[in-house]
Amino acid sequence: PLTGTGAIVTPAVSAARGVGAFNVIQLEHAQAIVAGAEAAGSPVVLQLSENAVRYHGALAPVGSAVLAVARAAEVPVAVHLDHATRPELVYEAVELGFSSVMFDASALDYEENVRTTAEVVAHCHAAGAWVEAELGKVGGKDGVHAPGVRTDPGEAAAFVTATGVDALAVAVGTSHAMLTRDAALDFELIAALRKAVPVPLVLHGSSGVGDEHLSRAIEHGMTKVNIATHLNKVFTTAVRRALAENAELVDTRRYLGAGRTAVAGEVTRLLGVLKAV
Ligand code: G3H
Ligand code: ZN
Repeated sequence: PLTGTGAIVTPAVSAARGVGAFNVIQLEHAQAIVAGAEAAGSPVVLQLSENAVRYHGALAPVGSAVLAVARAAEVPVAVHLDHATRPELVYEAVELGFSSVMFDASALDYEENVRTTAEVVAHCHAAGAWVEAELGKVGGKDGVHAPGVRTDPGEAAAFVTATGVDALAVAVGTSHAMLTRDAALDFELIAALRKAVPVPLVLHGSSGVGDEHLSRAIEHGMTKVNIATHLNKVFTTAVRRALAENAELVDTRRYLGAGRTAVAGEVTRLLGVLKAV
């Protein structure tokens, strides 16, 4: 069934479990992620980014489909808006039925990030929605990898107090859209942030993190783990194989279905790595 992101993430923090938050682009991603979570017997977060919404041209068609997939699931599934920079899109998502949003003002300076985030938080809380924000820019989305950026624990605690956010994305060694899983996480910093910050921590750019570092991140106090690029890689590898194996193949279900099956299996495996069950 459809549930709230907070209802999945809050109990995971005290139980030292991770929460898998996987990005959806096509309908097949949502189906695959839910099938993978059902096989694992684990709750899961489906997230749609502002970039994915831009690709589809509008939120409602793809957003409604993702919500429908979540409602039909056998495990608790939350639907989240990822990396929104436009408050109008945040409010549209909440109106449509998304239980949470990430408002990403991390490109702004500290004061502006606080001011704009606090405003969005006030609106969202009035509507019953949960808000994630980012402090310390996790790079890579512009193609520039900056895994050296770090979030300061004291500043993070002050940011949470000043904005009222429900979860915080932090920079601890990852970078978005990495194709290799060899990022070195700063575990001491994760533990220090866990101590200093009163809300759940979110790891972005987790495609660049290998299994062992993902498990250790959870042990050190990370909770929501966002994975996008890695699942696209798994999807596309399976599609390439299906197309290469049969030059006559034209039915899109045959190769997209292969991608969907491959992603479901990888989601089940990753939820185990994240101790999400
Ligand atoms: O918000 C989404 C994630 O941070 C995804 O990053 O594509 O590097 O896994 P990734
Ligand atoms: Zn991200």
